[in-house]
Amino acid sequence: MFKQLAAALAVLLAVGVVAAQEVTYRTHIAPLWQSRCVACHGALAPERADFLLDEKGYAAKSLGPRMDSYERFIAFVAWPDTGALMRRLDDGTSRHAGGKPGNMYVYLGTTDQERADNLKLIKAWVGDGAWNLNRWAKRGDVPMISKEQLDMIQIRY
Ligand code: HEC
Repeated sequence: MFKQLAAALAVLLAVGVVAAQEVTYRTHIAPLWQSRCVACHGALAPERADFLLDEKGYAAKSLGPRMDSYERFIAFVAWPDTGALMRRLDDGTSRHAGGKPGNMYVYLGTTDQERADNLKLIKAWVGDGAWNLNRWAKRGDVPMISKEQLDMIQIRY
């Protein structure tokens, strides 16, 4: 309990200083991830490649792909799962979101305020202008990610 409170407090403090300070995985994102995502994406979860072999089976057990390290996590930002983190965590206001929040947005917090604050923090970490919902390849009306968009990605360790 204390650990969770401490993690929540660390995130709150982090949000307050986002503008002033560089956002890093180690200082800001890992604690947020530990408090909000570990239950379904932690050490018990399958590696992404295994997950893809049986998405429905794992999802039925509330297990998503494993993302409990920097290397694993950034695979859902840049490549190979380009934009997955953005599509799942978006609050529905981004271009190509169709006005609907991503299905992981709900896990960002227990209140609207907490979700908004945590989204702001993750957006700052991904990078100014890098919060794009495009995939590696074009899909429907959504164009493929561009080199210019990729260049804006920060994701500091
Ligand atoms: C209650 C369990 C649960 C929690 C908590 C949870 N997720 Fe998920 N997540 C899943 C499951 C199950 C899937 C796979 C099914 C699907 O695609 O919706 C998934 C899918 C994803 C995907 C898409 C992966 C892909 O292969 O494209 C991303 C990105 C993601 N989650 C990020 C997060 C983040 C970040 C958090 C914390 C803020 C989080 N999730 C919290 C269960 C959870």
